[in-house]
Amino acid sequence: MTDKTQSIHKEWSSRFAFILAATGSAVGLGNIWKFPYITGENGGGAFVLVYLLCVAGLGVPIMIAEIMMGRRGRQSPVNTMQTLAREAGADPRWHYLGWMGMAAGFLILAYYSVIAGWSMAYIFKAFFGGFFSSDAADIKALFDDLMASPVQQIFWHTLFMVITMQVVMRGVRGGLEKAVRFFMPALFFLLLILVGYAMTSGSYQQGLDFLFTPDFSKIDADAVLTAMGHAFFTLSLGMGAIMVYGSYLPGHVSIAKTTFFIAGADTVVALLAGIAIFPLVFANHLEVASGPGLIFQTLPLAFGHMGGGWLFGVLFFLLLFVAALTSSISLIEPGVAWLVENRDMDRAKACVWAGSACWLLGVAVVFSFNIWAEYKFFGKNLFGLLDYLTANLMLPIGGLCIAVFTGWIMKSAHAEQELELPAEGFKVWYVLIRNFAPPAVFLVFLHVIGVF
Ligand code: PFF
Repeated sequence: MTDKTQSIHKEWSSRFAFILAATGSAVGLGNIWKFPYITGENGGGAFVLVYLLCVAGLGVPIMIAEIMMGRRGRQSPVNTMQTLAREAGADPRWHYLGWMGMAAGFLILAYYSVIAGWSMAYIFKAFFGGFFSSDAADIKALFDDLMASPVQQIFWHTLFMVITMQVVMRGVRGGLEKAVRFFMPALFFLLLILVGYAMTSGSYQQGLDFLFTPDFSKIDADAVLTAMGHAFFTLSLGMGAIMVYGSYLPGHVSIAKTTFFIAGADTVVALLAGIAIFPLVFANHLEVASGPGLIFQTLPLAFGHMGGGWLFGVLFFLLLFVAALTSSISLIEPGVAWLVENRDMDRAKACVWAGSACWLLGVAVVFSFNIWAEYKFFGKNLFGLLDYLTANLMLPIGGLCIAVFTGWIMKSAHAEQELELPAEGFKVWYVLIRNFAPPAVFLVFLHVIGVF
């Protein structure tokens, strides 16, 4: 390690700080924007059940593995993989896993920033009374307007990217810990208020039935892949984000306990978002499968109707923006850490390079919602393609490699030493990471390509 590497490798001030940052990374647009719309597109209950099983059976053990690898390697994911492969006497090409992760983070941030831009636009729409109309058609027109305007979307996307890079430039500690400590509980509280409102919508039970009554005839192999991919996406797994955060983790912290907390909080937020949104969808006779615009076309209806809706509307989209920000930071951090370590850049310069490239791809994503909407790749626009490529392919492949590496390549004694679990707990984790996760992910892939 060079001096510089060591100097950027400051540790979190406490276990709590790490929990905040990792929870900030996990809880984001994935929980509130993506989970409801993909659940709507994939028929509800059965999809939710597969997603929950993937979080518990794959997400939790792989998160433990990824944090553990980061803490042992103590560098950016590319260099951590190199160090760990050397330590295990394995093929140095394992460090390509770090490269894939960096690429995935970059590709995700390009569209993530555009969607985060939508939520920023909605803070202002809410503020200027855009939700006062309680008519579903008006609220839909508001969203369609934004979609049709490259100028508006590029403006918000640019602003979001600039803010993200500003925060990343200051390093992992600074403002991030404070932001998460305050905003996360506030977001949680607002979701509870929205659930309370959903209870009065007249379609609460119908919403719950949709979310929690599994009908397996509604899902196919691709839906299973989407549920699995989303488990990785929502927990920020498979691309080094959690690994790089783990690399700043002090030695004495219990990785397993921390993981349970993060995965639990993440799941509760997603379910609350679903419970708040689907009753509104049914009460207003909206389309459950209306896609990425779902929350932007439903929640404003609630804000238009409820007492104090103006304030809650502004607050909600503000909190969604902060949740997106704390996730975005972790999407670009592996790339920035690598540029600093290997290209001899300071953090500021690394941020400008990484941020500008990501911004440019984001502009193309904006166009894919309007002037380039007719350009399709495998039947998807650029946004859909990037989402499929990253969430459904790159993250599960990354997760699979992490499971294979920790379960089969790394010495189990090293993992045991790092995790400090009780013997029984370690055994359960080891079976899941070694014997369950790799074949499970692999089988889902085989199913998708139609092998069985
Ligand atoms: N987990 C984030 C969300 O649910 O919005 C998205 C994300 C962040 C994915 C960081 C992957 C990642 F590395």
